[in-house]
Amino acid sequence: MKKLLLLPVLALLITSCGPKEIEPGMTTEAKYKHLCSSCHESGHGGAPITFRADEWAPKIAKGMDVMLKNVKEGIGRMPAGGRCVNCTDEDYVDMIKYMSRPNL
Ligand code: HEC
Repeated sequence: MKKLLLLPVLALLITSCGPKEIEPGMTTEAKYKHLCSSCHESGHGGAPITFRADEWAPKIAKGMDVMLKNVKEGIGRMPAGGRCVNCTDEDYVDMIKYMSRPNL
């Protein structure tokens, strides 16, 4: 019984913590869902919650350059780049705008 439980737990750990890639042709929303939603949908670990203007206002006030740098390098409990191995600056800026809309 114990072994049966272990497998899905391991699978979950691998999918949530491993490096991630985006595919050509993915929309910004698809990239966000693939890379960022697991934390930002719920506010896990203190992550600013997607689409909530009050959560994003202090971040937006820092400016896109600062946010981009923090996303790429990691900040607090946010992993560097959301663990994306092939995202460009443009991908990150698009995702940040998507998450923090309608303010940007
Ligand atoms: C493992 C959870 C997790 C994932 C995955 C994640 N984030 Fe975060 N993110 C956080 C947390 C936690 C914070 C708050 C960090 C702090 O200020 O201490 C944060 C903060 C941010 C901020 C604000 C940075 C700042 O300057 O204050 C931005 C922008 C952001 N995330 C974008 C993204 C994007 C884009 C992705 C996907 C590519 C992503 N996050 C994936 C947890 C995550």
